[in-house]
Amino acid sequence: MYIPSESRYTDTVGYNFCGKSGLQLPRLSLGLWHNFGDVDNIEEAERMLKYAFDKGITHFDLANNYGTPFGSAERNFGKMLKENFAAYRDEMIISTKAGHEMWPGPYGDGSSRKYLFASLEQSLKRMQLDYVDIFYSHRYDENTPIEETMGALSDMVKQGKALYVGISKYPEDKAREAYRILRENGTPCLIFQGRYSILSREIETEVLPAATENGVGFIGFSPLAQGMLSDKYLNGIPENSRAALSYGFLKKEQITEEIVIRLKKLNAIALERGQTLAQMALAWCFHQQRVTSLIIGTSSVKQLQDNIDALKNLHFSNDELWRIGEI
Ligand SMILES: NC(=O)c1ccc[n+]([C@@H]2O[C@H](COP(=O)([O-])OP(=O)(O)OC[C@H]3O[C@@H](n4cnc5c(N)ncnc54)[C@H](OP(=O)(O)O)[C@@H]3O)[C@@H](O)[C@H]2O)c1
Repeated sequence: MYIPSESRYTDTVGYNFCGKSGLQLPRLSLGLWHNFGDVDNIEEAERMLKYAFDKGITHFDLANNYGTPFGSAERNFGKMLKENFAAYRDEMIISTKAGHEMWPGPYGDGSSRKYLFASLEQSLKRMQLDYVDIFYSHRYDENTPIEETMGALSDMVKQGKALYVGISKYPEDKAREAYRILRENGTPCLIFQGRYSILSREIETEVLPAATENGVGFIGFSPLAQGMLSDKYLNGIPENSRAALSYGFLKKEQITEEIVIRLKKLNAIALERGQTLAQMALAWCFHQQRVTSLIIGTSSVKQLQDNIDALKNLHFSNDELWRIGEI
């Protein structure tokens, strides 16, 4: 039987309040997009979950379609929860989402009330939960009135199926509309989830300020650009890396010569700082004070350990920030 470490809240990753809410999130959250599906090493996945929890990582991020095949990450996570974490549900923040393709036909994709409610019910069953802590609209859907999508999110909260709601990857103007409608409905938006890394800084100019102005937290996903911001692709594509897998979302073609040149320059700065490239890339995201948490994905406990160690040095000189910005 799993007994969590007693030091999980003392020797820990640390917490930030999420926007203007009373909810604290760990600075690093664990995402289950890859590495928790039926095609993955489930024993290692379970070890990662336990290791994360032992280090104070209380937040686990899922979506209906995570894992290969779709839904398998939620199902595997549900099993692990039941077997190991049943007594600790109140110490965990579990999020899921719907918005991308999940099942065939007009009700298994998009952001209609029909799809979102059906999907949440399915997610709860797969994870064997009564409620999720955060339910997200996974993407903005131009074919559904935003009032319908936000109305569905608000009703999930009112029905106790989700404690909070968030949005992901919405353009800034639509995000502002969503924040207003959710506030008017009496269920304020907790959090915006967006891509953020040294290689993807788009959210800095509009999305992040809009979230802050509205008291909404920001959680960054793919802070290592799916593993590119590590030293693994500096000399080719290793076997078993995400880019080498047929079912991974990182494609070999994305590891271009041009990107490897940039990664090598970044790696040199990381080494000067006494960090690995992955550690520097994670630490760098926190130079934006408005980042509540980063969702990392890992394929081993070793990677998780290394990534947690990134938090030991979050300081960047102006010169380092400038050089990274130039690259
Ligand atoms: N809202 C959205 O639309 C959306 C989209 C994408 C992701 N997300 C969320 O964000 C989470 C994280 O995304 P992500 O998995 O792309 O994050 P990521 O942290 O950018 O990439 C994770 C991958 O990087 C590699 N890696 C991690 N730590 C490493 C280390 N220390 N050294 C070397 N390689 C390392 C591993 O790849 P290998 O397998 O090659 O070892 C790992 O699977 C997802 O699980 C999901 O919860 C949300």
